[in-house]
Amino acid sequence: MSSLTVTGGRRLSGEIRLQGAKNSALPILAASILSSGETVIANCPRLTDVEAALEILRHLGCRAEFSDGTVYVDSSSMTGWDIPDSLMRRMRSSVIFLGAILARTGQATLSMPGGCELGPRPIDLHLAAMERLGAKIDERGGNLICHAPGLKGARIDLATPSVGATENSMIAAAGAEGVTLITNAAREPEIRDLGSFLTALGVRVRGAGTSTVVVEGGRFRPYARHRVIPDRIAAATYIAAVAAAGGRIVLRGVCERDLTAVSDAFRQMGVCLAYRGNTLAASAGERIKPPLTVTTRPYPGFPTDAQPPLMAACLRAPGTSVFVETIFENRYRHVPELTRMGADIKVDGRVAIVHGGNPLHGAIVAAPDLRGGAALIVAALTAEGETRIIETKHIMRGYEDIDRNLQALGINAKRVED
Ligand code: UD1
Repeated sequence: MSSLTVTGGRRLSGEIRLQGAKNSALPILAASILSSGETVIANCPRLTDVEAALEILRHLGCRAEFSDGTVYVDSSSMTGWDIPDSLMRRMRSSVIFLGAILARTGQATLSMPGGCELGPRPIDLHLAAMERLGAKIDERGGNLICHAPGLKGARIDLATPSVGATENSMIAAAGAEGVTLITNAAREPEIRDLGSFLTALGVRVRGAGTSTVVVEGGRFRPYARHRVIPDRIAAATYIAAVAAAGGRIVLRGVCERDLTAVSDAFRQMGVCLAYRGNTLAASAGERIKPPLTVTTRPYPGFPTDAQPPLMAACLRAPGTSVFVETIFENRYRHVPELTRMGADIKVDGRVAIVHGGNPLHGAIVAAPDLRGGAALIVAALTAEGETRIIETKHIMRGYEDIDRNLQALGINAKRVED
């Protein structure tokens, strides 16, 4: 079983370069098949989720290579329209390929993405959006069989501002005839980034990153190049690490405006954040304060993905912090693992009350999901002795070179692969 061993009790010191955003790279890789040409995607993080997306592209008949942080996709030879169950299971967000495959081939067969570690993760909004654009969808034997001989632009009113459904709608709309208006769209920076990529492909997109997005479907350029934005959740995780362990770190390649809610929360705790261009110096002293109440919300609110690492940092702050999770039902699976390390956290439904300031001790803990795994790393930095985190496959879905980055920040961290 792969594991990550972290020795706690050392302050952080050092400098690292932040990875590109996983949640931007995945929809952009899916959208790369729209053009039947070549796309070059720079600043792409090397992660197992990205590898899974490349596998899907290859399965569809595309050429997809990863070299030195850049992905090259040539989709001129694409012939497929299905994603087999084994690939759907490797990455739950593979449903993001639905709009792209439909737009490119007029049909798509995908297995239903299964239940998720964060609670039920329905795709009803994705399917309703495809139907609005003219797709016919059959659910048979756990498969989604979709036909859309010609997608047509339409008005899509999203019931909730789902990130994935907004992305799928934008991608499908890019391949539809006419204009699509998406209302109540998610406003996450990754959607703005997808909009920039579609623009580089020659699509007319307005409002990406606001709650109203307009996409004019049409022809694509045969070549597009794009640079993925910095990963704001990885940035939040490293800030949580310095809040927990103390010390001073420098993160290169950050985007300050995408981190506003995250910066506000850590500043409330007494973490010093100094942005200069795309470089951030983050430092924390001996004492940090609890951040009062943190409620997760769609962007520009505090991101649900940064909740687990922030909660772990709060364990060092004497006093009470209250968390309210409004996005996912089951996003406190890291709590029982943190409790094994000595944390005092009470969960009641969507609320978690954290009593910080108790000393933590090293333990063997299991990463319950991607960001829950990040929380265990943050807690391990403050724990006395060694923490062995197992089930690191979840962490590898989202954090590039996590062990080497921790080492560059002065931490004794060792990854063991089977
Ligand atoms: C994306 C991110 C994930 C992040 C989440 C919320 C990627 C690859 N993943 O996930 O890291 O935690 O945004 O910021 O970008 N919902 C429905 N029906 C649907 C779709 C969603 O009810 O068809 C609900 C979900 O159950 C959830 C809420 O909408 O309660 C938000 O989910 P959504 O924004 O779609 O998250 P993802 O796109 O899956």
